[in-house]
Amino acid sequence: MGTKNTPGLDELMERARQAAENSYSPYSKFKVGAALRLTNGEVVTGTNVENVSYGLTICAERAALVSAVSQFGPAIQIEAVAVANLNSAASPPCGACRQVLAEFSQPDTPVAFPAADGLRTLRFADLLPLGFDMKLK
Ligand code: THU
Repeated sequence: MGTKNTPGLDELMERARQAAENSYSPYSKFKVGAALRLTNGEVVTGTNVENVSYGLTICAERAALVSAVSQFGPAIQIEAVAVANLNSAASPPCGACRQVLAEFSQPDTPVAFPAADGLRTLRFADLLPLGFDMKLK
C-alpha cells in the first residue's frame, strides 16, 4: 500500500458532504454528494447536476463514477462508496446508480449512505442483489 493514507468510511463521508456543497439542484433543492475510494488510493467525488428537463438530471454517484473513469481510465476499481446529502434526509443510491456503480465494484464493496434510521453501510451485493450482468467480461 506504500505510504499513501487510505481514507476510512468516515473521511469518505466527509468528502461526500463537501462535494454536495457544489450541487446544482435549483429544482429539487436536494444537494447530494458522492465519494468513491478507488483501489489505486485515489478519492473521486461528484455531485448532482440537475436540468430544466428534469429527466436529464445526473445523480451525484454517476457524476463521481464518470469523473473517476475520465481521470484514471477504464481499469479503475471502486473500493468504497459514501453518499451524503445536505438536506438531513435519507438518500441511498438510486437504482440506476447502483447498476452503474456495479460495473466497477465488487460484491464486498462497502456503500455508506444516510438511511431513515441514520447512517448505514451495506455490501454492494446486498444493495443490488440481482443487477444485470451479461457475463461477457
Ligand atoms: N439524486 C442523486 O444525486 N443520487 C441519487 O441516488 C438519487 C437522487 C439527486 C437527483 C436529483 O437532483 C435530486 O437528487 C432529487 O431527486
